[in-house]
Amino acid sequence: MKPQLWIHARLVTCAAGATDGYGLIDDGALVCEGEQIVWAGPARELPPQWLQVAEVHDAQGALITPGWVDCHTHLVYGGQRAHEFELRLNGATYEEVARAGGGIVSTVQATRDASAESLYLQAQRRLKALMAEGVTTLEIKSGYGLSLAHERKCLQVARRLGQQHAVHVRTTFLGAHALPAEYTGRADDYIQAVIDMMGPLNDAGLVDAVDVFCERIGFSLAQTERVFQAAQRLGLPVKLHAEQLSDSQGAALAARYNALSCDHLEWLSEDGVRAMAAAGTVAVLLPGAFYFLRETRLPPIAWLREHHVPMAVSTDCNPGSSPCTSMLLMLNMACTLMRLTPQEAVLGATRLAAQALGLHDRGQLVAGQRADFVLWDVAHPAELCYAMGANPRRQTIWGGQPQKETPP
Ligand code: NIG
Ligand code: FE
Repeated sequence: MKPQLWIHARLVTCAAGATDGYGLIDDGALVCEGEQIVWAGPARELPPQWLQVAEVHDAQGALITPGWVDCHTHLVYGGQRAHEFELRLNGATYEEVARAGGGIVSTVQATRDASAESLYLQAQRRLKALMAEGVTTLEIKSGYGLSLAHERKCLQVARRLGQQHAVHVRTTFLGAHALPAEYTGRADDYIQAVIDMMGPLNDAGLVDAVDVFCERIGFSLAQTERVFQAAQRLGLPVKLHAEQLSDSQGAALAARYNALSCDHLEWLSEDGVRAMAAAGTVAVLLPGAFYFLRETRLPPIAWLREHHVPMAVSTDCNPGSSPCTSMLLMLNMACTLMRLTPQEAVLGATRLAAQALGLHDRGQLVAGQRADFVLWDVAHPAELCYAMGANPRRQTIWGGQPQKETPP
């Protein structure tokens, strides 16, 4: 295949070190060969040989960003939890619903009852919605199976979604998401079971990273550490659902294990921020969960900025705390609810989200990166954060290939 050249484009390169943050190039050109970007910059500097050898695409003034990286999702699950939404609107809290046998464990039952095929079809609808708004890489966690067979089923579904769609899937083993009913009163035994599941799942090539829900209604610091130690023995990177509902000091522990990311972080302390900064751990902000649970305490954005902790933004797509399949809405809410600047939100959905997954080959429009990008019918990246319910995506290019548009 010939090299592919895009001209008449406004590039949002998100390049590390760009002086304006966005890395905006008004009249830009972009060349791909195979799956990679081989040149990106101002059109006037384009080496003329590309015009001779490449197939030329006229972007007609489109804005081009890197494809979104949705770095925190629980995409594969059975059923839905609208009834809990209703319970909460009648006065119950998220924690009360969870303690009364609702919450995560009710989704566990629906997920165990569902066949792999049914889970695939349910998750595929959500995946298509994400892709329709420009997602080209996403993370999918397990954590609604909570036994070897059911965690395997969910992770296999996640892998299959990646194989059958023009999107990259990174899988995360979240066996320590909730205590399944059969282990009531035996959380430490369940943690041992999680550790025992990790080896076979990893041997089957189903695990790219390991996560834990460290919380009053999840697992303790000591239990979290046992899971991290097991991950470390297998050479798997870790990440953490940390400080979502209380300050459990999970972030500092995760930082000691060089976690890729700590996610949620509403109750993060300044010491936790410092530990994350020293370890290079990314803070993943989840405005959908903050909004849907009607949290009032914001993650400490000012401290994260002050200590230069990279901030990513993600959907946290899941049935209980963030039934959301819109990265554009998350960009908007990261700005309106969490007061990120549009520039921070865009970088948080591209380069810094890729960093949260340990991926350094995507998230920027620069030579050597994967050619995963999106053409938008807007003039400035702030428009992608500003509008609510709009989807100005014109086209997605994934691995250098223009994608045919398929109806959801
Ligand atoms: O990221 N916090 C834990 N896990 C999910 C919620 C899962 C659920 O309620 O089903 C989260 O918010
Ligand atoms: Fe989550």
